[in-house]
Order: sequence, then structure tokens, then C-alpha cells
Amino acid sequence: MKMLVTGGAGFIGSHLVDALVARGHEVLVVDDLSTGRMDQVNALARFYRLDITSQLMDEFFQKEKPQMVFHLAAQINARKSVERPDFDAWVNAWGSVRLVQLALEHNASKFIFASTGGAIYADDAQLPATEESACKPISPYAITKYFVDQYLAMYGMYHGMDWISLRYANVYGPRQNALGEAGVIAVFSQALAANQQPVIFGDGKQTRDFVYVDDVVSANLAALDLDTSAFDHSERVMNIGTGREASVKQVFDMVAALALQAGSAQGGSAQGGKQIEPVYGDAKPGDKLRSAIDAARAGRLLGWQPAFTLEQGIAKTYEWFAKQG
Ligand SMILES: NC(=O)c1ccc[n+]([C@@H]2O[C@H](COP(=O)([O-])OP(=O)(O)OC[C@H]3O[C@@H](n4cnc5c(N)ncnc54)[C@H](O)[C@@H]3O)[C@@H](O)[C@H]2O)c1
Repeated sequence: MKMLVTGGAGFIGSHLVDALVARGHEVLVVDDLSTGRMDQVNALARFYRLDITSQLMDEFFQKEKPQMVFHLAAQINARKSVERPDFDAWVNAWGSVRLVQLALEHNASKFIFASTGGAIYADDAQLPATEESACKPISPYAITKYFVDQYLAMYGMYHGMDWISLRYANVYGPRQNALGEAGVIAVFSQALAANQQPVIFGDGKQTRDFVYVDDVVSANLAALDLDTSAFDHSERVMNIGTGREASVKQVFDMVAALALQAGSAQGGSAQGGKQIEPVYGDAKPGDKLRSAIDAARAGRLLGWQPAFTLEQGIAKTYEWFAKQG
């Protein structure tokens, strides 16, 4: 089947492309390489360097007519979205709605969207938050993700569009951009593997629901296979997370333990062989204190559950960053 993955040169998208190619699908990647990397694009995928907001997307759909669309391309930086809400809305809101429209006009049979569970629910929601918890997105980034979820429901209702929105928790794993603001596991892994000192912003007690990238890929594959014909619109939004909270300090300690182990295995000494202590910096304004999402719906409807523990996922991530040198 012919699949389009927007954002397929990025962190999560490139892993999804690899999995689709491995399943024998014909995969098209649309990415403007604003944060994605060409060397992450699977050689068997057909790559188009295109901005999803470009007029050229019309021609792309005319020519390629993908049967399925996985939409992961996005401006993903929440802080940037606060600085430039207009740009964020242009790419993440308008660009997404335009893509849904093109998918509809060119008869794509399903649209699977990368939404967020980490940033959409109200701060006072009981944890882990379910899809029924109150939504109170506070950054323009989260507002646009919520907005697209609503538009997809509208496209389903009025135009019969078959869609699923997967609300990811904090995704981590190999290939994550360590310059990204949210990827603390990537940031810690890259720094410690290079014997550098990472900084924890705030007291490190803030919690996140960390979900490993391969688990997010398997949720997308399950969404692809799912027969949604009998689905209610509200059931098409699904949290993809572990339901567990881990603090930033906890993940720091886990990565630091791996760095120490690696240092002594090499006969050298990561950070001088001593216990690795974090340096603390000012808390980031607007940083959530706690976050965790309940993926029981994805368990029931997609048959999905995370296969990787945090220990396993962090070990794989650290190993990858250490190999990058
Ligand atoms: N990483 C997470 O924790 C997380 C959590 C929730 C949701 N998401 C969503 O998952 C998706 C993938 O995120 P990621 O972490 O892999 O980030 P990423 O930055 O690695 O991937 C995004 C990709 O989209 C591309 N892109 C950006 N703007 C584009 C445009 N206008 N036209 C074409 N391509 C464009 C980038 O070049 C990049 O390759 C995003 O939609 C993001 O909002 C990620």
C-alpha cells in the first residue's frame, strides 16, 4: 500500500518509515528538513523535500495519491510556539487542515495524526489523564494539536474521513534531537556520553510519562491495521503513553548510571569515575509539574500496550548516543 509519512526525516517519523518499509509498503516521505535529517530517511522510501504549507503539496497529491497519511510534520518546539504563535498556527494548524483536505480530495483511506497527550490536558487533571479528562492546552503548540483533533472529528462527521489521532506522551529514543527542549533523555544521554555536564531545569521533581519510540511506532502500525468503521468520533482519539510518571531527576540518575558503567567498562572514567551529580538551573516558565496519560483506550481498541520499560528504553537510547561519538 502507498503511504505518506509527513515529517518522515524526523525522530519519530523516520522510525515509522523504517517500520512501514520493513512491512513491504511503498513509502513516500514529505519533509522540509527544518529539523529532520536526510541521513535518517530510509533509502527505500521516496523523499520529497517539501513544506506541508507549500502550494506544491497539491501537485504532490495529484501525482502520488497516497492511500494512507501519517501526519507527523510539525513545528514541535513549545517555546518557539509562544514566541511566534502565528508561525506555529501556520504550520501546525493551517498546514495540518490543508493536508487533511488534500487527503480527502485525493481519496486517501485513512489519516493518522501525531497529537500530544503530554501538553493537552489541564494541569489539575487527575493522573494518569484519560482522553475524557479536561483539555486545557496552554502553549500555542498544544492548542494547535487540540485544534487539529477537533478538525479531524469535523472531517469525519461531515466528510466521512477515516481518522485516528494518537496523543503521544513524552517520546524518547535513538535519533531524537538532543537540542530539542523536551527530550531530556536525549539531552542527558548526549551530554553524559560526551563527558559533559547536563543541566536540570527546576528541582528535577517534575514528572513526565516517557514512552519509547518503538512503542509509538507500534501504536501507529496498529492504528493502520484497525478497522474503525464502527467507531464513534470520540473513540478515535487515543492516548499513547505508559501511565507512569518518572521524574526528570530519576531519568538523570538512570542515564548517569549507564554513563558510569560505560566509563568503567572502557577502563576510563566517565566524569572522573565519581558519582555524576546534576547541575540545577532555573525552572522553565510554564513547565508542567506532573504529567502522565492513561492508554487504556488504546489497549482496548488498538490492542496496544508499551513493550519497553523505561530501563530498557533508556539503555537503548544511551547506547545509540554513545555510538554517535
Ligand atoms: N517527541 C515527542 O515527545 C512528541 C510528543 C507528542 C507529539 N509529538 C509529535 O510527533 C511528531 C513528530 O515529532 P518528533 O519528535 O519526531 O519531531 P521532529 O522535529 O524530529 O520531527 C518533525 C519533522 O517534521 C519536519 N517538518 C517541520 N515542519 C515542516 C513543514 N512545514 N513541512 C514539512 N516538514 C516539516 C521536520 O523537518 C522534522 O523532520 C510531531 O507532530 C510532534 O508534534 C512528539
